[in-house]
Amino acid sequence: MCGIVGYIGKREAFPILIGGLKKLEYRGYDSAGVALLNDRNLNVYKEKGKVATLEASCAGKDLAGGLGIAHTRWATHGEPNSVNAHPHVSQSGRLAMVHNGIIENFGTLREQLQQKGYEFKSETDTEVLVQLIEFALTTTDDVKEAVVRALNKVIGAYAIALIDREHPERLIVARKSSPLVVGVGENEGEFFVGSDASPIVEFTKKMVYLEDEQVAVLQPGKSPEIYSLQNQSVDYDIKEVDLDISMLTKGGFPHFMIKEIYDQPQCLRDCMRGRVFVDNDNMSNNFIQLSAIRDYKNRLLKARRMIIVACGTSWHAGLIGKQLIEQMCRIPVEVAYASEFRYSNPVIEPGDVVIAISQSGETADTLAAIQLARENGALIFGVVNAVGSSIARASDTGIYIHVGPEIGVASTKAFTGQVCVLTMLALQLGHELGSLADNEYHYTIGKLAEIPELMEEMLKSKMDDQIKRMALTFTYVRNFLYLGRGYNYPVALEGALKLKEISYIHAEGYPAAEMKHGPIALIDSDMPTIFIATHHQLYQKIISNMKEVKARNGKILAIVTRGDKEVKAIADNIIEIPPTLNTLVPLLTVIPLQLLSYHVAVARNLNVDMPRNLAKSVTVE
Ligand code: F6R
Repeated sequence: MCGIVGYIGKREAFPILIGGLKKLEYRGYDSAGVALLNDRNLNVYKEKGKVATLEASCAGKDLAGGLGIAHTRWATHGEPNSVNAHPHVSQSGRLAMVHNGIIENFGTLREQLQQKGYEFKSETDTEVLVQLIEFALTTTDDVKEAVVRALNKVIGAYAIALIDREHPERLIVARKSSPLVVGVGENEGEFFVGSDASPIVEFTKKMVYLEDEQVAVLQPGKSPEIYSLQNQSVDYDIKEVDLDISMLTKGGFPHFMIKEIYDQPQCLRDCMRGRVFVDNDNMSNNFIQLSAIRDYKNRLLKARRMIIVACGTSWHAGLIGKQLIEQMCRIPVEVAYASEFRYSNPVIEPGDVVIAISQSGETADTLAAIQLARENGALIFGVVNAVGSSIARASDTGIYIHVGPEIGVASTKAFTGQVCVLTMLALQLGHELGSLADNEYHYTIGKLAEIPELMEEMLKSKMDDQIKRMALTFTYVRNFLYLGRGYNYPVALEGALKLKEISYIHAEGYPAAEMKHGPIALIDSDMPTIFIATHHQLYQKIISNMKEVKARNGKILAIVTRGDKEVKAIADNIIEIPPTLNTLVPLLTVIPLQLLSYHVAVARNLNVDMPRNLAKSVTVE
């Protein structure tokens, strides 16, 4: 979490930095700050709260300078206030630095520095690091070397950008376990720095993704110099990054979340492009082609077991992936919270395949889980959205979901993209293993290719208005229960998570049949139950669960297959979705639940895109 931006070149840095922070605000919005260097004149401005507050407070101030760094914070050490806000300045006022990550041994380092006479203004680990770099400057004149020396003393994660009043011609950056991208301007005349490519891409598509434990010195007119923590110069690649800038704007919608919900049909088309091939005249020509499978075919087909590691919404997608892979490939699959997996001394064997699912590709727990799995000989298969992210790079192979940058903090299009990729993966593997009948393989592909159209049909219907009206009646409800079975059980979990995250209403997801083992005690006329009750083999059993709720005066909202009569007769409200295969149904049933959480949050007048206490990319444990 936390977003960092940097610029060095001939332009004025301030507008680039503020624009960049706005694009990275999804990474945290507890405070924001900027440091500008104009010749040797250093100006630092910081404010508690959002980037807009910082921008407003900067009006009329000295904002000149072609070198600057900026930060938007998700607080870890110290409360969100302007003192703890970044950039932090060293004791002598020579260095200013922004940081994303956590310095785990900051307490010890701080004490050591205090004994040497350093004083601290903030409670942050970042101030410790900038002071440590200044202290290293007492033993060398070279700032880069001082950075290397200081970083060698640090335990933890960092992406930093540092400016030095004594050297206004250079910007120094470094990273370990937190992301950092360098954008290379035309003729290397200017450089841009970001936690991801979004603040950079409008200026240049040429990027260098810094590796762990690397320090880069950026000096306009010269090629970037990159060093290891052993102070050795290292080679690097400049990559062309293609990012659609329209994905970074709201495109006329009031919030990113609702735009991203509406983007889903196109996102799934992008996700399937070049991978899913459909012959409308002859179904038996339908096929799926995933290059990730081609390259690691033997290991994938011989997998005795798969383990999915992920967090939050991505974990819910993993639960669907488990059902798909087990059903189509007959390979046993476990789904683990990455945070638990990494500390559980898990049994991992060389034949295992570990599938890491992550939208951001930067989630610290998921990254650590795959590092552990790799050490134990597993093949790492990434299902990631952010191209070039840490998890993508730490995977042996994988499939990008290609749904474009997701800015709304509550994940929507990434979930359907992940489920789509896991469906393609299960289909192709199942077909190659021979565990999935040919006709089922071909038929399911045809049905998968229809999903974007069905999503569009739903989003263009009156469903959204209907849900908006319902949301008004739910505004003051304090608890919700979400129930589903089979493929719709993870959707129930996801619906409940969405509501919690952005509406701050307590909601629980359960397998419908588990209700009678405890949660039924909660049912009364004040707690609505949302049933996902589409047609499948357990449909009749869900109807029985609904009757149990009704018998206790519970209110029911049900997501049903279009034309359903039985549920309609029981439920207080229904939302219809078009018919599809049971294996594909989560791609549709999740949409009304995303819309419901959105409209309830709007009705409660909450900040949908930036819910309290959350950040988009969880790069800390
Ligand atoms: C929920 C949400 C989070 C993320 C989780 C994992 O809306 O966004 O639960 O799904 O933090 O993040 P990624 O997928 O980036 O690893």
